[in-house]
Amino acid sequence: MRITVAGAGNVGLVTAVCLADAGHQVTCVDTQKEKIEMLEKGHSPFFEPGLEPLLEKTLSNGKLRFTTNPKLAYSDAEIIFIAVGTPAKKDGSADLSYIYAVSYSIANNIENNVIVCTKSTVPVGTNDEIKQIFQYGKPRHLKVDVVANPEFLREGSAIMDFYLGDRIIVGADNPEAAAIMEQLYLPLKIPIIVTDIRSAEMIKYASNAFLATKISFINEIANLCEKVGANIDEVAYGVGKDKRIGESFLQAGIGYGGSCFPKDTKALVQLAGNVKHPFELLESVIKVNQHQHSLLVVKAKEMMDSLKGKKAAILGLAFKPETDDIREAASITIIRELLEEGATVTAYDPIAIPNAHKLFGNSIEYTTNIRQALKDADFAIIATEWEQIKHLPLDTFAVCMKEPIVLDGRNCYCIKDIQRYPITYVSIGRPVISKVKPMSIK
Ligand code: UDX
Repeated sequence: MRITVAGAGNVGLVTAVCLADAGHQVTCVDTQKEKIEMLEKGHSPFFEPGLEPLLEKTLSNGKLRFTTNPKLAYSDAEIIFIAVGTPAKKDGSADLSYIYAVSYSIANNIENNVIVCTKSTVPVGTNDEIKQIFQYGKPRHLKVDVVANPEFLREGSAIMDFYLGDRIIVGADNPEAAAIMEQLYLPLKIPIIVTDIRSAEMIKYASNAFLATKISFINEIANLCEKVGANIDEVAYGVGKDKRIGESFLQAGIGYGGSCFPKDTKALVQLAGNVKHPFELLESVIKVNQHQHSLLVVKAKEMMDSLKGKKAAILGLAFKPETDDIREAASITIIRELLEEGATVTAYDPIAIPNAHKLFGNSIEYTTNIRQALKDADFAIIATEWEQIKHLPLDTFAVCMKEPIVLDGRNCYCIKDIQRYPITYVSIGRPVISKVKPMSIK
């Protein structure tokens, strides 16, 4: 099929590359010229495991091309995927201006009947608005079917998720369009759920909101565990064994980040407010997450008289491992609060430093060497569970740091292992291990 993907971000680029690899003739269009030039040379503008080799392959076999030209992109496409960003506005609602701009551009440039398929996460009702744009904006003799096809790709495992997803959602009000989408996805052998457009839009928000709820719930249980002397590792294991609950997304820590959960939970709260049905449960989920981001700075302040003049090592900047994305990462809140407290910060991350530098400039130091970050530090905060951090020999903390005080926001180490080293160790929902000279701690 001749397919066009509008938007070369995480979702659009992965979709374009995977569909080209499946043998389709794919054009990926984006308004950012530098990005397109980079992609034409086979370089991805962001890190995603496995993406660049597929990109090079599909470019060289001619299945994939990039352009900034809407005429070239849309004129003869059979299916057009919209995969542009829907960032949060100040009030938390989704900014749909890119969605509308692309829709108008499609309406102005198509020369064939086409299915327009929305991959971007959009509030319920948006695809009906997109339909209106085509109803009045497209050439009269052409037919445009609008389909809601939300994605569930996780950063860091997006290629695998494309091929091995749990389900594909196709929201359509025209059975013929739905059948073409089913045909497109059939080779993936993933269950396809065909539904109406508004339900498809809601499935995406409900899925992300539920996962975010699971995380905030286990984080609150972890906070309670600390108060009552229970251990969240044991509790999450025991709870997750109930098949109705499930083991995944019960990893307690300093909260969720990234480009989806924070934005989508806020957008759903906004959406609920708009229809006069306040979503109080989700409002609490968001509040718990914000609290969780700050938790370790609060704990560090409780442990040391003041953080002024202290040297902090931040291990991990990315919102999760295997990505260079720092959007809404807990590390951002932590670094901002530490700087406000007068601490100095050296941050370690294997790949996210260029993105962090855009945000913090020279107000902090950066290194891709964990030992360098820990050198002479008064305390360390682990913000991302990178393998490099998880596999660090535990004596490194005592050897490198001025005071081996480790606040682990991702529960990277086994408490039993930590106990064998002269480290003061604070994690989430587990017992505190205190080994440092009493004078260092208040
Ligand atoms: C998420 C959804 O999983 C995906 O389906 C959707 O399309 C986009 O949003 P992503 O943001 O890439 O994907 O990452 P994910 O692996 O879901 O993790 C999100 C955040 O939750 C991370 O900050 C992670 O550290 C945190 N998390 C996840 C926890 O704190 N605990 C857990 O148990 C799981």
